Amino acid sequence: MSMVLLLAALRTTAALAPQRLVAPQRRGLVRLLSTANVQDAPAPKRKRVKRIRQHINPLASKQVQPAVLADDWFAAAFADPGKPLIVDVGSALGGWVVESAADDGGRNWLGLEIRPAAHDVAVGRLAKADVGNAHFLQCNANVDLARILADAAAAGAPLERVCVQFPDPHFKKKHHKRRVVTPELRATIAAALAASTFVSPSAYLVSDVLEAATAMRDEFRGDATLVEVGPWNAAGWLEASPLAVPTERERCVLAGKGETSTAPGTAFRALFTPN
Ligand SMILES: C[S@@+](CC[C@H](N)C(=O)[O-])C[C@H]1O[C@@H](n2cnc3c(N)ncnc32)[C@H](O)[C@@H]1O
Repeated sequence: MSMVLLLAALRTTAALAPQRLVAPQRRGLVRLLSTANVQDAPAPKRKRVKRIRQHINPLASKQVQPAVLADDWFAAAFADPGKPLIVDVGSALGGWVVESAADDGGRNWLGLEIRPAAHDVAVGRLAKADVGNAHFLQCNANVDLARILADAAAAGAPLERVCVQFPDPHFKKKHHKRRVVTPELRATIAAALAASTFVSPSAYLVSDVLEAATAMRDEFRGDATLVEVGPWNAAGWLEASPLAVPTERERCVLAGKGETSTAPGTAFRALFTPN
C-alpha cells in the first residue's frame, strides 16, 4: 500500500474509533493526522507519586518537641528485648535496619528517623519483612536519644552499638549546627556505652564527606571516656566497616555514585569504645 493510501486509511480509522479505543502508542501518529480527535481525548491519568522531603531542619520549633513514647514502648517493640541492641541514628527509609535484622536475628535493630514520611516508608518495609527484631521511631535524635537509650537500658537491653552512618553533611558553614553529631549527642552516646552491660559496646561513625567525617571523629576524640579503635588505613580511618550490611547511601557511595562524595568510592569511618 502506498503511503498516501495508508495515511488515508488511518485517518478514517482514527475518526471512526471512539477515543478510548485509540491505543496509547498510536496516539502520536493519530495526533499528526487529526488534531481535533486528540484534543477531545481525556488526558492520560498520571500516577500520584508522594515526594519525600530530602531535608528537615532539626532545629525548627516543630522538630524539637520530644517524641511521645509509651512507658513500655521498648518491651513492646521487640519480640525479645534482651538481645544486644544496635541503634541507627538517621535510618532514612530503613533499608539497612530491615536487611540487617533479617540477616542477623541474634540482635535487635532500632532505627531513628526525623522525617515522618521516611519513617513511614521504613515501617512499611518492616511490615513486609515480618521480623520481630527491628523497630523504627520517628524522632529527633538530638532531642530523644538520651530517653530512648535510658528506656532500652531499663528494659534490660545490652547496648552493643550506636551507628551514625552518612549523616546529612549540611555543607554550608551556617548550617553546621544542624548536623546530628553535637557535643550533647556525643555525650549521650558515650554515657550510654559506659553504662552498657554489653561486653564491648561501640559507636560507629561513617561519612563520604571528609570534612563532616573529620568533625564527627574530632567530637568523639575529644571525649575522655572514649578510645578510638582500629585497624586503620594509611589515612588514619577505620580500615573497613564493622557491619555486615552496607547502608543504602553506602552502596551508592562505594559504587562511585555519591554526587557529593569527597573522593568517589571512599567512605571515612571511625569506631570508638569506652576506655
Ligand atoms: C543522608 S541520610 C543517611 C541515611 C542512611 N543512614 C544511609 O546511610 O543510607 C541521613 C538521614 O538522617 C536523618 N536525620 C537528620 N537529622 C536527624 C535527627 N536529628 N534525628 C534523626 N534523624 C535525622 C535524615 O532525615 C536522613 O534520613
